Amino acid sequence: MIRSVVRGTGAALPRRIMKNADFEGMVETSDEWIAQRTGIRQRHIAADDETTASLGEAAARAALANAGLTPDDIDLIVLATSTPNNTFPATAVEIQNRLGMHHGFAFDMQAVCSGFVYAVTTADLYIRGGLAKRVLVIGSETFSRILDWSDRSTCVLFGDGAGALVLEAGEGTGTIADRGVLAASLRSDGAHKDKLFVDGGPSTTGTVGHLRMEGREVFKHAVGMITDVIEATFSQAGITADDLDWFVPHQANKRIIDASAKKLGIAEQKVVVTVDLHGNTSAASVPLALSVAVADGRIKKGDLVLLEAMGGGFTWGAVLVRW
Ligand code: ACO
Repeated sequence: MIRSVVRGTGAALPRRIMKNADFEGMVETSDEWIAQRTGIRQRHIAADDETTASLGEAAARAALANAGLTPDDIDLIVLATSTPNNTFPATAVEIQNRLGMHHGFAFDMQAVCSGFVYAVTTADLYIRGGLAKRVLVIGSETFSRILDWSDRSTCVLFGDGAGALVLEAGEGTGTIADRGVLAASLRSDGAHKDKLFVDGGPSTTGTVGHLRMEGREVFKHAVGMITDVIEATFSQAGITADDLDWFVPHQANKRIIDASAKKLGIAEQKVVVTVDLHGNTSAASVPLALSVAVADGRIKKGDLVLLEAMGGGFTWGAVLVRW
């Protein structure tokens, strides 16, 4: 059977780093509060000339170089983002053009922080359905543009960045010993739409709007939703937490990551954490964390890797990949 195998990873971060202490003169907060409640110590913030498209392009180029491929080898670009350069056309199309790619097709996916998990699942279906052989899956965000910088309960949590994977069609035997995407489980429930949202849009206010979040409410639901969808993915693949080599969760809050891993019985040393370095980069957080753990040699060929995310909507999901 056809499997969607990871061939390369890449990442890109804005030049400017903003430390927790840099907020101290802007809003009533402290490095200690932010670090204790979230695990975040710093985040990257895009300059005017750094956009979702430019960061996505840089991450895509890094992933292509890592894979030993060029844009000519790619059939499809799926970009997960909630902060597109424009309402339309899709920022994926802009990245396609920036890469000098004038064949194939490209589109955006919007599932907020779960966007990358949705995009990998979608790319896998295009590959297994025979519509594409090689797909660039990108998560790129500039959440700094939609933050209310006077709201201390949200502005300290988010950062900008991009990460990318190249997925390629490969032959598998149909067992979990195969390399590639092995199982996935996606969920959403719009009953929670007002707990984490942007208060503007083309069809309502005609403005871009700002991010609004009931942090405590999101927190309350996060661990249960994350662990449910992971358990569904484990039972689809017929594995347990002990079989995993790496857990690469969405990087929103270290306390949510720790509580989820504990509930699932995933050993602490198997959990990849980058929230301290990047903050919450929404759809970019999982591929950024993956890039870090691949580059430093933790994630290696043949490892069983679990990706997970939860975000606005609510949306949530998990993907199991053998590297
Ligand atoms: N600095 C200092 N104090 C603050 C700050 C700040 N930056 N922000 C809030 N506070 C205050 C609050 O006003 C509150 O004060 P009060 O008790 O006088 O009212 C107090 O700190 C406690 O606030 P809580 O909201 O209860 O703090 P909590 O421990 O829940 O932590 C946090 C807040 C970090 C936002 C947490 O709730 C959280 O991580 N929630 C989940 C967010 C998340 O995971 N989002 C993921 C999805 S993101 C996406 O999809 C785009």
